[in-house]
Amino acid sequence: MDRVLSGNRPTGKLHIGHLFGVLYNWRKLQDNYSCYYMVADWHALTTQWQDTSKIRDNIVDMVIDWLVVGIDPTRSVLFVQSEVKEHAELHMVFSMLVTLSRLLRNPTFKEYVAELRIKKETPRKSVLKTAVRNTVDVFIENVAKKLNSGEGKLDLDFMAYLRSELQKTFLENLKKTLEEEEEDLPYGSLVNYGFLGYPVLQAADILVYRAKYVPIGADQLPHLELTREIARRFNSLYGEVFPIPEPLIAEFPKVPGLDGRKMSKSYGNAIEISESPESIRQKVKRMYTDPLKVRKGDPGHPEECPVFMLHKLFNREEVDEIKESCIRGQLGCVECKRNLAEKMVKYLEPFREKRKEFEKDRSQVIDILKEGARKAALVTRETMEMVRDAMKIWK
Ligand code: TRP
Repeated sequence: MDRVLSGNRPTGKLHIGHLFGVLYNWRKLQDNYSCYYMVADWHALTTQWQDTSKIRDNIVDMVIDWLVVGIDPTRSVLFVQSEVKEHAELHMVFSMLVTLSRLLRNPTFKEYVAELRIKKETPRKSVLKTAVRNTVDVFIENVAKKLNSGEGKLDLDFMAYLRSELQKTFLENLKKTLEEEEEDLPYGSLVNYGFLGYPVLQAADILVYRAKYVPIGADQLPHLELTREIARRFNSLYGEVFPIPEPLIAEFPKVPGLDGRKMSKSYGNAIEISESPESIRQKVKRMYTDPLKVRKGDPGHPEECPVFMLHKLFNREEVDEIKESCIRGQLGCVECKRNLAEKMVKYLEPFREKRKEFEKDRSQVIDILKEGARKAALVTRETMEMVRDAMKIWK
């Protein structure tokens, strides 16, 4: 069977967006492939190195969600990246095969840097502006003193003109300088070396298993493209070691969050897979609905309503009925939500129950991951032998 590799950074408990977007796909792939599913804890470190206190709990919490959904450790290999050292070794080799400019062009990197810049550079700019203003004031005062002490009277109009001209010129130049600096040296102090190499590590994750397929979301395609480039480069320099991996992009339904935007932990609009019944009821109650439907009698537009989108996922049997009576204005949102909440509670119940079992003894999960790392290393060691052979490196 061909090997599949995929991974997730350890974000803790997963939500229903992950369930439909990632986990069902991973579960299905187990039937046809030899699957390696990895917790990318080193990748998490590239942005969260300061506070590592939650990583361990987050790993176990996330893997419990994999397990309860049916990612099966007797068929697939579940492991933590940092426990399989060959990922780091191959990353180091690959770092020679990619140029800085190629990495600086990576869209994920550019977005991250832009975010940091907005967060961190704005105060810096305002400090500089203040400094310029103060400089101009001092300069003007000094000129004034000189003029007053020597050649008689000070022309106040001229001084005001001088002051404003100086300020204007300084500020214009400052702006130009900062813009030029942003083009030439935007990253230096903002971003660490590890983050720049994020996609190189990801290439190592994939290729150290000589994986043929990589199930990922569309946002990860640029990283897979780089992986393919690195594989080709290695093969042409040292000999054929790596297959060129292909993405597997699964079609999946859009899962809206409570506010109608994409469900995401960082938006605070998510419902967890293991959310308690009370909490599901409360969250569904405050969900956004079709804004044009104000009163019960108003006709609704279900296709634009996040509550209806969730009915499509959790209440397939009643979808047609609900759609019709919503459009006809017979079904009110309060009742519609109450119904959805109960369907979700029921749908998610088996997952919640299985989580309880794992929570009783979290060391079971750690054992599964240790065993996974052992199995993973059987492949990764073999790959590194091949790599060292091909490269004619000391062994
Ligand atoms: N970068 C991926 C993400 O943010 C996680 C990841 C790390 C990954 N290594 C991988 C995904 C290898 C697929 C293959 O989701």
